[in-house]
Amino acid sequence: MKVYIVHGINLDQLGHRQPAIYGHQTLADQLTLWESWMANSWPASSVEAVQFNDEDALIRFLQAVDGEDAGVVINPGAWTHSSIPLRDAVAGLRAKVVEVHLSHTYAREAFRRVSLLAPFTKGTISGMGWLGYRFAMEALLVEAADIP
Ligand code: DQA
Repeated sequence: MKVYIVHGINLDQLGHRQPAIYGHQTLADQLTLWESWMANSWPASSVEAVQFNDEDALIRFLQAVDGEDAGVVINPGAWTHSSIPLRDAVAGLRAKVVEVHLSHTYAREAFRRVSLLAPFTKGTISGMGWLGYRFAMEALLVEAADIP
């Protein structure tokens, strides 16, 4: 399975954006770790990470990589709570999708408790920091490998 880790708006700023909430690590730091974890634990699979501040580009990316054998781990940032176009795009995908948030969105402002795309995902992991992405990838990979 190919796993796409897709980030939305403002998540290119991780590392220095509100570090008390989102930590000090960057997406690039994490990608290196994900790649070596994947190579060791799931050598037949691969991971690609992308980030978009342009909603149209993010939706086009999802549509381009979509397929039965694709897995998507998505953190749309603030678009989670506001984007009907992203919701509609995710609803139309054949790929399995897991939503991830670094912060515990249910423990923050009320508007962050609503995800417009959650009904079209397999599930959501929120508040586990960067580890949440590993959990999400593992969920997709274990299911695709049909491991009980
Ligand atoms: C976030 C939570 C969102 O509410 C926020 O707009 C973000 C980051 C998270 O990963 O915790 O940009 O998706």
